[in-house]
Formats: sequence, C-alpha cells, structure tokens
Amino acid sequence: MKLIVANFKMNLLKEDILEYLNHFDNKYSNVIFCPSNIYLNYFLDKKLLVGSQDVSANEMGAYTGDVSASQLKSMGVKYAIIGHSERRKYHNDDKFIKEKLIHTIINDLTPILCIGESKEERDNNKTFGVLKHQLDEALSNIDKTLLSNIIIAYEPIWSIGTGIVPNNKDIYETISFIKNYLQQEYNLILKVLYGGSVNNQNIEDLEQINNVDGYLIGGSSIDYNKFLDIIDKVNIN
Ligand code: PGA
Repeated sequence: MKLIVANFKMNLLKEDILEYLNHFDNKYSNVIFCPSNIYLNYFLDKKLLVGSQDVSANEMGAYTGDVSASQLKSMGVKYAIIGHSERRKYHNDDKFIKEKLIHTIINDLTPILCIGESKEERDNNKTFGVLKHQLDEALSNIDKTLLSNIIIAYEPIWSIGTGIVPNNKDIYETISFIKNYLQQEYNLILKVLYGGSVNNQNIEDLEQINNVDGYLIGGSSIDYNKFLDIIDKVNIN
C-alpha cells in the first residue's frame, strides 16, 4: 500500500486537532500524521502512526527548543521528516541533514528525507545535479545497512504550497532518476514519495504515475474532509 504522510506544518489549534481526530481511527495502516510536536500525544493516544516534522541533530542536552530522536522514540513516534525545504530555508537545516539522519536511524525512527529543486534550478536543467547533491550530503559515508529503511520524499520547492504540480512525465522521470541513482551509487532500493500541492482534485491524476510510492501532503492534510478524500482515492488502487 502507498504511504500517505500528513505534514500539518505549524497549523491548527488544540480544538482543531481534537475535532480533526474525531474523524480518524487506526484503520489506516499507511497513513502517518505529523502534527506540531505539542500535539503528538493526541495522535499517539488514538494509536495512529505518528511522525515528527523535524528532529534535533543532537542526542540530548542543552539545546533549548529542540526535540531529540530518542525523546520522540520514548513517546512512541515512529517516523521523522528530515530536511523539509522549509527547515532548510528558515533553520539552515542543509548543514545538519546527516546528523539528523543518523540520530533518527539509531533511535529506530524511520526518516522521511526530503529533497527537491528550486524553480530556478529546474529551469536551468540542474534538477538531477541538485538531487544527487542532496542525496550524497545525507547518505554518503553511512553504513549501508543503516539506510535500508529510509524513505525519500521528492518535493520540488516550487510546487510546495503553490498549487503548481509538475506534469506526470516530469514526476515519473525525476523519481526514476532518484531510484536509479540510489540503486547504482548506494545499492539501495527505497520508497520515494511525491510531495507538493497534492490535493483531492489532482490525486487521481497523480495516481496514474507508476513509480510513486506515496505522498507527502501539506495544505490538503489539515482539512480532514479533503484528506479523507485523498486517502480513499489512494487506497482504492
Ligand atoms: P503542500 O506541502 O502539500 O502544501 O504543497 C507539501 C509539503 O511541504 O510537504
């Protein structure tokens, strides 16, 4: 079954979360919810699959505001998004990807590593080079046995939150490139998700692409009606 990851980002108040949760139970074994960390427990209490939107590059200690992979693990969190473009942009996460990845893996969380090119890079035919660089930055010199369960999310930056989605052929070709590169350079066969303006109107069209292993969904995941519609349309296949 394809994975469907809900990235709420910094959205929803406590009352919105409680209302949202009235519409979900744990029958969806392929849906991962990534709310703000302060709300994780509500999702865990409902036995839903839960991920963190980020993880500290450090294990424990004097890092005010950070949350470590070991703390997340101790709560029952199973996944962590790493290197989301908003983290790279606003928190300089480019510099800490490998540390974050390692801490996540050694604490038995499954990392969802986000990669993606800017519009300018796409227009200048630099997409594949940028993706290679982001993958190498994260994965090089890590024992291959540690990497076998990680999930990649291909999220073109120009598509995130813009309503603009690459055409199916471009998504197919880019995901093929990522999978081939991972296999050739790292001997890894990994799941690759697509993320960027996925909604309940375009999901059926995206479902025609045959190498996408799931979706990372921002804006359309915070509206439970839209999100449930997406889940139904993906799980029907
Ligand atoms: P979006 O966000 O679905 O709102 O474009 C996706 C993401 O940032 O993960």
